[in-house]
Amino acid sequence: MIYPLFFRLVLERFDAEDAHRLARRASRALMRPRIIRRVLRQTLVPKAPELRVETLGQAFPSPLGVAAGMDKDVDWFEELGLLGFGFVEVGTITAQAQQGSPEPRIARRRAQQALLNWMGFPNPGAAVAADLLRRRSEPLIVGSNIGRTLNVAPQDAAEDYRASTRELAPCSDYMVLNVSSPNTPGLQDMQMAHRLRPLVSSVREELRANATPVPLLIKISPDLDDNELDAICDLAMELQLDGIVAVNTTRDFSNVTGSSGDPAGLRGGLSGRPLKGRALAVLRHIRQRVGDSLVLISVGGIETPEDAWDRILAGATLVQAHTGFVYGGPLWPSRMNRGLVRLVRERGGSSIQEFVGAATMDGLGGCAGDIVERQIPSPDLDLVPPADTAGAARAV
Ligand SMILES: Cc1cc2nc3c(=O)[nH]c(=O)nc-3n(C[C@H](O)[C@H](O)[C@H](O)COP(=O)(O)O)c2cc1C
Repeated sequence: MIYPLFFRLVLERFDAEDAHRLARRASRALMRPRIIRRVLRQTLVPKAPELRVETLGQAFPSPLGVAAGMDKDVDWFEELGLLGFGFVEVGTITAQAQQGSPEPRIARRRAQQALLNWMGFPNPGAAVAADLLRRRSEPLIVGSNIGRTLNVAPQDAAEDYRASTRELAPCSDYMVLNVSSPNTPGLQDMQMAHRLRPLVSSVREELRANATPVPLLIKISPDLDDNELDAICDLAMELQLDGIVAVNTTRDFSNVTGSSGDPAGLRGGLSGRPLKGRALAVLRHIRQRVGDSLVLISVGGIETPEDAWDRILAGATLVQAHTGFVYGGPLWPSRMNRGLVRLVRERGGSSIQEFVGAATMDGLGGCAGDIVERQIPSPDLDLVPPADTAGAARAV
């Protein structure tokens, strides 16, 4: 209750990105003392066995992670972990440092619990990001999300992603190829098979040089049609990618209006509540196509434990959030974790991982591709874990 008031009375007086900087700086300063870190480790960092998920070669303390875009400067991920997130995806990082679009470049739509952003990948570049990751002191799972440098031509993209991989793979727990941000011209074309194939092989070659295997995933757009989704799923399986992060922000503004009630001012990519239904529909579609052969990370409009639970039942092994955290505040991740533990216990489970894909296995989840918010499964359904879900996520 206090945070929404604080958001309205204080944070909203600032430009959205300035508010983000303020939150980042304040939390870094407040969490610097060792004693505070110790207290947070004891109180907010998830330890419940019900939340533990083994996948992508790691044991995640919670399936709830921070989506890309929250820590673009790679200097906030440890504090985010201390607030209770099970993992953090930093970036998007590009091979060369860049400024991104001129500010302002984030707009709030609080009534719809949504954000619009056209940031264009401001980031310190892969070498600096890698240096910051190497200096981490908290035992936290960190993925690196990489994209194409703006001044690199689309035909040279593979080499650019490869250069980022060279820097970041040795200090990342997983890598994500971002081929779906709407704010870098031509980036989404990388989702097409003839572009994605050479990109993946180039990055793969670089990953082979790494001492330890680093899982490779792609992050896709919610604006692909069913045929395009199928093509990406098939290619991801053929290329033996480890997983798919679904979804990025949308260009479909039909669910949201401008502040004056008209579509004026709508630009960039839309995230948050208006994306919820589409994110779930895309997840269901992908799960139907790939089964449990890929690890699915669902992101888009997650605000409540029930939202996250729906994604798990629909086949996500992990979930991520960005906008829900912005509007939910610093205690949001620990509330989400508590809610997820409750949902697991209410259904007689011992671990959330037992429920991955549960709705698709008993025919309840379907993959009709409907854009329906929380259609099924609902928390009222007395779902029990399916007998064999061990393969639902790639166990360590
Ligand atoms: C301000 C902002 C910046 C973002 N930057 C990135 C980014 O750099 N790379 C990326 O892959 N996704 C980025 N995203 C997309 C999020 O990671 C996420 O996919 C999307 O917002 C949907 O999740 P949400 O509804 O929980 O916000 C950004 C989102 C927002 C709101």
